[in-house]
Amino acid sequence: MDSILTCMDCGKTYPINERVITCPACGGLLDVTHDLDALRGTVTHELFDQRLGSWNKLDHSGVWRYRELILPGLPEDAYVTRGEGNTTLYTASPKLADYAGVAHLQLKHEGENPTGSFKDRGMAGGVTQAQQLGVRSVICASTGNTSASMASFAAICGLQAMVFFPVGYVALGKIAQSVAYGALSVQVEGDFDDTLALVWDVAQELPVYLLNSYNPFRLEGQKTIMIEMLHQRGWRVPDWIVVPGGNLGNSSAFGKALVELRDLGLIDRLPRIAIIQAEGANPLYRSYIEDWQTRHTVRAQTIATAIRIGNPANFHKAHRTLDWTNGVVTIVDDQAIMDAKAQIDAAGIGCEPASAASVAGVRRLVDEGTIAPDADVVSILTGHLLKDPDAVLNYHAQTLDGIESTYANHMKTIKPSLDAVAALLTE
Ligand code: F0G
Repeated sequence: MDSILTCMDCGKTYPINERVITCPACGGLLDVTHDLDALRGTVTHELFDQRLGSWNKLDHSGVWRYRELILPGLPEDAYVTRGEGNTTLYTASPKLADYAGVAHLQLKHEGENPTGSFKDRGMAGGVTQAQQLGVRSVICASTGNTSASMASFAAICGLQAMVFFPVGYVALGKIAQSVAYGALSVQVEGDFDDTLALVWDVAQELPVYLLNSYNPFRLEGQKTIMIEMLHQRGWRVPDWIVVPGGNLGNSSAFGKALVELRDLGLIDRLPRIAIIQAEGANPLYRSYIEDWQTRHTVRAQTIATAIRIGNPANFHKAHRTLDWTNGVVTIVDDQAIMDAKAQIDAAGIGCEPASAASVAGVRRLVDEGTIAPDADVVSILTGHLLKDPDAVLNYHAQTLDGIESTYANHMKTIKPSLDAVAALLTE
């Protein structure tokens, strides 16, 4: 059986090449459903190991190495790639692990993707499907990383890209990328949720293909964060995966990936997933602590602009991930995010503010007694340090409103003299 699209709410199915983003019958989110029975036995640890030693561009991609689990059955030249994935799984230094409060902490750095965020894995999936459907224009609303990635992937395969940002709340490096890659770049006088609602309407009315994480092919690509991480660990499952939550695409993709890997016998158990939201952008957390009685939305505010989202597209899929993995949700405030970021940066690894929510979240969950200090924990760093240089420089200059620069590294200005340098050394 070919892979199909399945509505997670009403169960209606659609052929894989039907041009739909959500379920036309009920509006529910769609999954790409693979024929796991057909894959069992064909897709093995050995197959993926063999591909690691190959320079074939699909085998070498950290997404398409696992293509049977993402978008099976296309001719080789149909897969769009720009060398995404293959990101480092760092072992935290004792100092950083101590800050987080756990003995075994690893950091999967998705900021090492070609455009500096995990979105490249999703775009490999989404843009490949766009090509299959024969679309000419792609569109997204973005807090900056989706747009940077979509602009790049569209450019490499000659698609027109239209990106929409909330005005004033997108980090500098990300805007620069979209403009540089040639996307039609539009600032909307509203927040991300207003911008996504606008783009959604546009994609219903105009001949443009939506590449926000409503698009199930984006999530298929993002599953490879889990698959590649487990491959790097010799398929040894950690106790916890900790991930920042904004539009909740990653949280959703991770649950699906893990269940599929388990059902295929590629892993022997499921880890628990912890989703970390910013305190001022916490709709999932609010619903979680009320045992899902209401689907909350909020007017979001946080220094971590990437996750400044109050009405997440993948709310229901993230809830499903939490059910599947006995997961938890917690929140961290901007102070905790920026302090954790300073620690990750000073460890020589670096990330953008939203990513640091994951390490701040580990620290909080250890404090609360949810994560045991001897647990085996993998945190996901979602974006590169250089995405948001303003946040870095203002933190270290102690000029961030309402934030203590607990770990500030002050820059010095000196006269060009040996004595001045000598004086610094004796400070
Ligand atoms: N971290 C970074 C660096 C992000 O850019 C995003 C989302 C997230 C975390 C949250 O991930 O949506 O899967 O829960 N950025 C989107 C964008 C919204 O437009 O770039 P999620």
